Amino acid sequence: MKIAIVGTGYVGLVTGTCLADLGNEVICIDKDRGKIALLNAGRIPIYEPGLPEMVIKNTCSRNLTFTDDLPTAIADAEVIFIAVGTPQGKSGGADLSGVWAVGRQIAENLKGPATIVIKSTVPVGTNAELSRQMAEITDVPFDVASNPEFLKEGAAIEDFYKPDRVVVGARRPEVVATLLRVYKPILGADRPFLAMLPESAEMTKYVANCLLATKISFINEMANLCTGYGAHIDDVRRGIGYDRRIGFQFLAPGAGYGGSCFPKDVRALIHMAKMVGLPCQMMEVVDSVNESQKDVLPRLILNHFGGSVRGLRIAVWGLAFKPETDDVRESPALVLIEELLQAGALVRVSDPQALEHVRAIYGDRLDYCEDPYSALEMADAVAIVTDWKQYQSPDFAVMSDLMNHRVIFDGRNCLDEAKVLSSGFQYQGIGRLT
Ligand code: UGA
Repeated sequence: MKIAIVGTGYVGLVTGTCLADLGNEVICIDKDRGKIALLNAGRIPIYEPGLPEMVIKNTCSRNLTFTDDLPTAIADAEVIFIAVGTPQGKSGGADLSGVWAVGRQIAENLKGPATIVIKSTVPVGTNAELSRQMAEITDVPFDVASNPEFLKEGAAIEDFYKPDRVVVGARRPEVVATLLRVYKPILGADRPFLAMLPESAEMTKYVANCLLATKISFINEMANLCTGYGAHIDDVRRGIGYDRRIGFQFLAPGAGYGGSCFPKDVRALIHMAKMVGLPCQMMEVVDSVNESQKDVLPRLILNHFGGSVRGLRIAVWGLAFKPETDDVRESPALVLIEELLQAGALVRVSDPQALEHVRAIYGDRLDYCEDPYSALEMADAVAIVTDWKQYQSPDFAVMSDLMNHRVIFDGRNCLDEAKVLSSGFQYQGIGRLT
């Protein structure tokens, strides 16, 4: 099948590459010429495990091409995916200017019937509105369908090939059939294809992300309560998780959720509710609990040092909002860094992938260390904010030799508490006892 994908951000690039790998003829389009030049040179603008190899394989076999020329690229495409960003706008709702602009451009250049599929996360009603706007521009028959994305950064390729489900929102059965053909190779008995109205598909995306964010804010609040009452959140998690109605997933307490999806989508749903005059109290609380949670780690550190860290050297391990990505958007590490700097601490940071993104924000206000251990030289404490695998079983003897004081603040509860303590370190996690 000939497929065009507009937008080579993480969703567009992963989807396009995987669809090409399934044997489709895919052309990825982006107005950013620099990005297209980079991709055509076989270089990938984001860090996503497995993606570079797959892009190179499929560009070599000519299944995958990149261009900034939208009119030519969509000319004979049967399906055109829109995967442009929908960042948080000034009102708190999603900024759809990218979607409207691409829709307009597609309509102006449509030569024959096509199915336009919105993959970007968009408020309910966007499919219908895009359809209306495009119909004002073109007489060529087209359909607009919704196909929300459930990929996780860092595990996107695996998620593409083994989706929990594929959700498609369309009004005509022919459109459902077209998208079924696209996804057929990856569907299975435990990977259903769920067809529904576009409005329901659009809503599904927000409900999924908002529920996941709710679980995280819930467990974070419970972890803080555990600290207040001398209970241990790990035990409580075990105690609830074996109840199959509850389970273990997305109930790991931490420094708060970040990234380009949960914070933005929770706020977009709040905005959507406001637009129709309905309350969305739970999401408001989820958002504010998460904002407060990002302050828990800085507060633990300040309290430990009697309210002042002026002149102390604090190491920060992990800057990305989660492991296996270089994305620092809404990362709790940024809140910690800001508060430490304001309190007069000297901050030395390390991250396997995100160092350059943080350098672009903080410049020479921080010390940047490729090697996590060099961040510990003469440090008075280390705070772990991202649970990268390499931080989970560190060499405590080496740490001990390097650090001024043996204190670890574990913002992801990723260390083995008993090991840390027996190595002579003081330790504070989130909702853990020590
Ligand atoms: C999220 C969803 O999980 C995907 O299904 C969705 O497709 C994506 O948003 C999107 O809308 O594009 P992502 O933002 O890549 O994916 O990251 P997650 O793995 O969901 O983690 C989000 C944040 O929650 C991270 O900061 C992580 O550290 C935190 N988290 C996650 C916790 O604090 N506790 C948990 O138990 C799980």
